[in-house]
Amino acid sequence: MKETIIHLEDVSYTYENSEEKTHPAVHSVNLEVRKGEFLAVLGHNGSGKSTLAKLFNGILVPTSGEVKVEGIPTSDEKRIQDIRKKVGMVFQNPDNQIVATLVEDDVAFGPENLGLAPEEIRKRVDDALRTVGMYDFRLFEPHKLSGGQKQRVAIAGVIAMRTDCIIFDESTAMLDPKGRAEVMETAKKLNEEGITIVFITHFMEEAVQADRIAVMSDGRIIGIDTPKNIFNNETILAKAGIELPPAAKLAKKVRESGISIDNGVLTVEQCAKALFEAAKSAGVID
Ligand SMILES: Nc1ncnc2c1ncn2[C@@H]1O[C@H](COP(=O)(O)OP(=O)(O)OP(=O)(O)O)[C@@H](O)[C@H]1O
Ligand SMILES: [Mg+2]
Repeated sequence: MKETIIHLEDVSYTYENSEEKTHPAVHSVNLEVRKGEFLAVLGHNGSGKSTLAKLFNGILVPTSGEVKVEGIPTSDEKRIQDIRKKVGMVFQNPDNQIVATLVEDDVAFGPENLGLAPEEIRKRVDDALRTVGMYDFRLFEPHKLSGGQKQRVAIAGVIAMRTDCIIFDESTAMLDPKGRAEVMETAKKLNEEGITIVFITHFMEEAVQADRIAVMSDGRIIGIDTPKNIFNNETILAKAGIELPPAAKLAKKVRESGISIDNGVLTVEQCAKALFEAAKSAGVID
């Protein structure tokens, strides 16, 4: 059994100003985010993904149930700083996250608020900027950067806090394909270094790269499993209105045309390999 970093027990959250008080944005969720995993979260608009993310680090506190971060309940106001040091968050719009007029000052903002010594801050800022590949831009003005570069600066700001877990709430949504790939690669690299990643996204080709996918619908988690099992579960896909990743769609079309092809195809690489195998067994190539 892997250790748990974030534990949700029967968690519901209803917004105070919500017209429909009987309809929680997050509803009876039980979930264990495992230490070191890459967990993707999928679900239609308004299914409760962002609310769930905000419950993970105490930005929101459950209306009922309990969220614990490494054993600390997020309802414990005295410990909220400890929780923020463990779980960081990257949001959708990079422009709303950048506060300073120089890249390195922006990354330093969080560590400065932790009251660290100047040498320690300098080291953390440089390390974080190197990790996201933005060190050479440290003296740039953020508004001159591309969307993907800005988002990487925002990520560096979270890395500099040295949190154990980073939540990405649709952090690729406003980016072009290149920017999206940059952010995804950064998240994967951080995960390889041992940081737990929760990656909320609408892009199936991103979700397939996770260890597990949690699927939300109407505030509930209706499935949590490996990408292969989720994308082969017609009931969950239909209920959550989730499409197959592009590579799996193509593989399905090929399969429906009568050509035998592996049903585990999710990524472009797997699709290429499966098509190659199919062509070989059909004698098209040798
Ligand atoms: N500040 C708020 N006040 C009242 N209701 C809210 C608030 N924020 C979200 N909601 C409602 O809570 C529900 C879940 O919203 P949430 O933003 O968590 O969904 P989401 O899955 O992140 O959606 P999206 O894909 O659009 O980002 C929705 O019905 C939404 O209208
Ligand atoms: Mg959202």
